[in-house]
Amino acid sequence: MSDTRLSDTRSSDMRSAHPARASRGLFIAGGEIVDSTGTRRGDVRITDGEVVEIGSDLDVADELVLDAGGCVVSPGLVDLHTHLREPGDELAETIETGARAAALGGFTAVVAMPNTRPALDDATVVGSVLARGARSICDVASSATITKERAGRELSPMGELHDLGVRIFTDDGSCVADAGVMRNAMAYTTALPGAVIAQHAEDPALARGGHMHEGDWSSRLGIPGRPAAAESVIVARDIELARLTGARLHVLHCSTASAVKLIREAKATGVAVTAEVAPHHFTLTDAECATFDPLFKVHPPLRTAEDISALIEGLFDGTIDAIATDHAPHPAEAKDQPFEEAPPGMLGLQTALALTITQLVEPGHLSLEQALALLSWQPAAIAGLEEHGTVIGPASPANLCVFDPTATWEVDSDALASRSRNTPFVGRTLLGRVRHTVLGGEPVVIDGVAQR
Ligand code: DOR
Repeated sequence: MSDTRLSDTRSSDMRSAHPARASRGLFIAGGEIVDSTGTRRGDVRITDGEVVEIGSDLDVADELVLDAGGCVVSPGLVDLHTHLREPGDELAETIETGARAAALGGFTAVVAMPNTRPALDDATVVGSVLARGARSICDVASSATITKERAGRELSPMGELHDLGVRIFTDDGSCVADAGVMRNAMAYTTALPGAVIAQHAEDPALARGGHMHEGDWSSRLGIPGRPAAAESVIVARDIELARLTGARLHVLHCSTASAVKLIREAKATGVAVTAEVAPHHFTLTDAECATFDPLFKVHPPLRTAEDISALIEGLFDGTIDAIATDHAPHPAEAKDQPFEEAPPGMLGLQTALALTITQLVEPGHLSLEQALALLSWQPAAIAGLEEHGTVIGPASPANLCVFDPTATWEVDSDALASRSRNTPFVGRTLLGRVRHTVLGGEPVVIDGVAQR
């Protein structure tokens, strides 16, 4: 593991100083800069929230110096799929704690999912999420529901929500099962610049009553299954509806080989479809459910080794556009139940980058540049977050992630900033560790420590 040193030309320790956003210049020293234009070595100077200079061996002025020796300096990561649980389930997570977990994971922006209580289906609730997010250490963009109360029937006031800045519309946690409702929602978004319909693709009629992937393991364990076809029939249908309406479709947490194939074919014929994969879906198989540990219960469920191979192929060849966490906190008392009764979901923000490096980059499936495209600039483009995932150069917004791709670390439950602890990765040794995160020029994480 690399030496983590903090040097400061003015005071000996800024860690407890709660620096005001962009109040003092920053100097990121000696890293390898990786963005959508490629890789180069250089120091990065930041003033007033913007990168002002890049070069080798620049002189340090009166600024806070962050050591980036042996590290990659990339645009901040962007998560298209974060459950922040506020309002309504603050025992599981709050916007503040979720944003802290995000910053520690190298994210500078997350899209908050709308399956809160109440659901994010009107301007007042979305406005309050945005206001709380603005005070946190990660930019919080809000999604909003496609249908009122995520009930799948009546459309939410999408125009009004779009005026507030919402670009991703989804009933995530539930699938919009009615094809007519979905068609209308898609048709509506074609009048809203940048709007995307993001589908939780699991046909409720096929998935209902199932708790894990339907296959050999579910038969052996006697746990009712959710078939792969529950995902692919909805993906196939929605691709046809996107073709019909001209709308943009985003497939959330794509988990099956059959869905990857459908998305690849749809892209080849010009349908405006994008897709994301969650780290747990490219890391774990349904065999984990043999432990009956509800930490392995997610929707859509963990699939087979063949599905993982297809997801990796899709991540490699551009069929899949983003790696998104589906960070889904649940309090211990909810998860500490029999497999069939526990709610689905696991944490993701603090392990996403390291799982990507450990599972995809280190074994040679993806280059580091491809991994960062999937974690930063491609999701930023899908969500229309213009201040994130940018090329690092003069006048670019200083939303950055500095990480050591060669550092190994063990996931420690006590080091999770989330209010919940539901991750099966505790105790695992992973490769790739976030050192610093910079948001709007403010070092919100320094040497792995959140600054507020
Ligand atoms: O596993 C999941 N948990 N999948 C979802 O789509 C929803 C999420 C949650 O909100 O807990």
